[in-house]
Amino acid sequence: MKIEFDISSELDKVIREAASNCEGLRDDFDPQVRQADERFGDFQANGMLSYAKQTGQNPRELAQRLIDALPESNFWETSIAGPGFINFVLSSSFYYKWIEKFGNSSKLRQESRTDKPRKIVIDFSSPNTAKQMHVGHIRSTIIGESLARLLEFQGHEVIRDNHLGDWGTQFGILLYAIKREHISLDDLGPDPIASLENLYRQGTSWTKEDPVCLSQARKELVKLQNGDPENLNLWEKIREISMSSFHSIYKMLGVHFDHSYGESFYRDKVEPIYEKLLKHNICIIDEGALVVFHPEHKRFAKQPFIIRKSDGASNYATTDLATVEFRKKEWNADQIIYVTDGRQRDHFEQLFLTVKKWYAAENVDSPTLSHVWFGTILGEDNKAIKTRDGQPVKLIDLLTEATDRAQNMVIEKKPDLELSEVKKRAKKIGLGAVRYADLSQDRTLDYVFAWEKMLAMQGNTAPYLQYAVARIHSIFRKAEIEPLDIPPTSYFPTSESERKLARKLLFFPIVLKQTTKELKPHFLGGYLYELATEFSSFYNQSKVMVEDKNIMHLRLLLCARTLHLMEIGTEILGIETLEEM
Ligand code: ARG
Repeated sequence: MKIEFDISSELDKVIREAASNCEGLRDDFDPQVRQADERFGDFQANGMLSYAKQTGQNPRELAQRLIDALPESNFWETSIAGPGFINFVLSSSFYYKWIEKFGNSSKLRQESRTDKPRKIVIDFSSPNTAKQMHVGHIRSTIIGESLARLLEFQGHEVIRDNHLGDWGTQFGILLYAIKREHISLDDLGPDPIASLENLYRQGTSWTKEDPVCLSQARKELVKLQNGDPENLNLWEKIREISMSSFHSIYKMLGVHFDHSYGESFYRDKVEPIYEKLLKHNICIIDEGALVVFHPEHKRFAKQPFIIRKSDGASNYATTDLATVEFRKKEWNADQIIYVTDGRQRDHFEQLFLTVKKWYAAENVDSPTLSHVWFGTILGEDNKAIKTRDGQPVKLIDLLTEATDRAQNMVIEKKPDLELSEVKKRAKKIGLGAVRYADLSQDRTLDYVFAWEKMLAMQGNTAPYLQYAVARIHSIFRKAEIEPLDIPPTSYFPTSESERKLARKLLFFPIVLKQTTKELKPHFLGGYLYELATEFSSFYNQSKVMVEDKNIMHLRLLLCARTLHLMEIGTEILGIETLEEM
C-alpha cells in the first residue's frame, strides 16, 4: 500500500476494488468516500444503504462483507456505523508518513498537478474604460486572480484575459463632452482618469436633459465606429489613460494579465457571427433586430438575446459571441471562465445556450463555458456600498484606506519599527484583509464591507492567518532550525492535538479538489482558517522544544508542514504573508 497524496481518492479506489471481489455487488455500486465527522473517524464510505435497499440486502451485512474484502492495511482501522457506513480511522504511522512525504514545495506542487492539463481562459476584472475602477470591480479582480493561481498551481495552462469594456456607448457621450469643452487629453490635470469620469458625468447630464446633445453624442459614437481618425485618436488616448490607472491598481494587488483585448478588439469580427447564426437558423430578425430565442427555456423562450440592435449596431452579446470564437480558434481553449457580477447571469446563460447550438450545428466541440458569478458588496447599512454622497466607492481610495488603517495597527503594536518596514507590513496586512474579506465568503453571497471585522486579529480574517504564519516563523527562528531540515523521528502523532493537526494537514488535497470543482475560493480560505485554528490549539497544548528529541522533531515537523500549507494556500488566494508581525 502506497502513501497517496489524496487519501480520499485512494480509499475510493480501494473500496471499489474490494467491491469488485465482493459477492452481491454489481458494477453499478457507487460508494462515496468523504471526510467524516471527527467523532467517527477520518473518512467515511457511504452508498451501502441505498444500494442495499435497491437490491434487497441488509446494509450492515453488506458493509461487513465489503470490509472483509478490503486488503490488510496497517494504515487504517475500519468499523461499521449506523446503517452500513464504513468508517476509516487513519493510523499514526500513516499520518506521519504523509506529512513526512509531502514536505517540500516542489513535491507538493508536483503531487497537486493534474494529469489532464487543460487550456483555460479566465476572463476577469474587465472594467469599462473612461471610468475609474470602482469597488464593484474588486470582486472580479480578486476572485479571478485567485482562480487563475489555483488552476496554474494544478498545472493547467491559464490565459488571463482582461475583457475591457472599451467600445460602448460611453464613448459617444465622452467624445461629445470633450469636444464641447475643448478639452485637451494631454492636459487633464493630476488625476486624468478622475477628470475623464467627471467629463463623462457632465456629458451624461447634458444628453439626458437635451435631445439635441443626445443626438450629437450618438453621432460621435457612429463616427468613432466608422473609423473617423480624430475620434479614433481620442479613443486611443482615453484607453491609454484608463489602462494606466487600472495598472496601478493591478500592480498594488499583484494581478497580471496575458491579454487585455477588450470589446474593441472584436469590432471587425462580428459580421461572420451574424451570417453563421442566420445560416443555422439560430437567430431571427425581430422588429429589425437580430435576436436569439431559446424555446426550450422557460424564460428565454420569450426574453430575447439581442445580438444586433435594430440600428445595425453590435452590442455586448455580439462581442461575447465573437470572443468565444476567437478564444476557441486562436487559443484552442478547452474552457472559458467568466468572472462577473451575478446580475449578468441571464446574459451568460443566453450566451452559453447560443454557443452550444451554434457549435452543435457546425459539429465542433464547444469549450466548457463557466460563469463564476458573485454577489454585491454592501455597506454597513446593508445596502450596496456607496460613498457618503452617494457615489460609487473608488477602488483606489478603498485600497489606500486599507493600507492606512493597517499602518496604524502596525505602529500601535510596534511603535519603534522603521517606517519602511511599517509600510511594507501595512501593505500586506491591509490589502490582504480586503482580499480575504471577499475570498472567505461564498462568492454567490452579498457581504458587508466592515473595516473593523476584516482587520481583526481574531476570527476568519487575513491578519489572523498572517499571524499564524508569523508565529510559526518565530518558532523556527527561536529553534534555530530551518523548516525543511527537520530530522526523521520515530515518534508519530499520538496526543489528541498532534493527531488533530496532522489530520487537518492531510485534508489539503481534498480541499483543493473541492475549491477547483466549484471554483469557489472560500473553501480554501475556510480550510486555512481551520488549519490556523488547529495549529493554535496544538501550540497551546503541546510544547514544541521538549527534551525528548523524537517528540520535538515530530512537533517541529507539524509546525513546518502547517507553515508550508498556509503559505501555499495564502499565495493561491493572493494574500502575502509576513515573517514577523
Ligand atoms: N465590462 C463588463 C462589466 O464591467 C464585464 C465584462 C465581462 N466579460 C465578458 N466577456 N462579458 O460589467
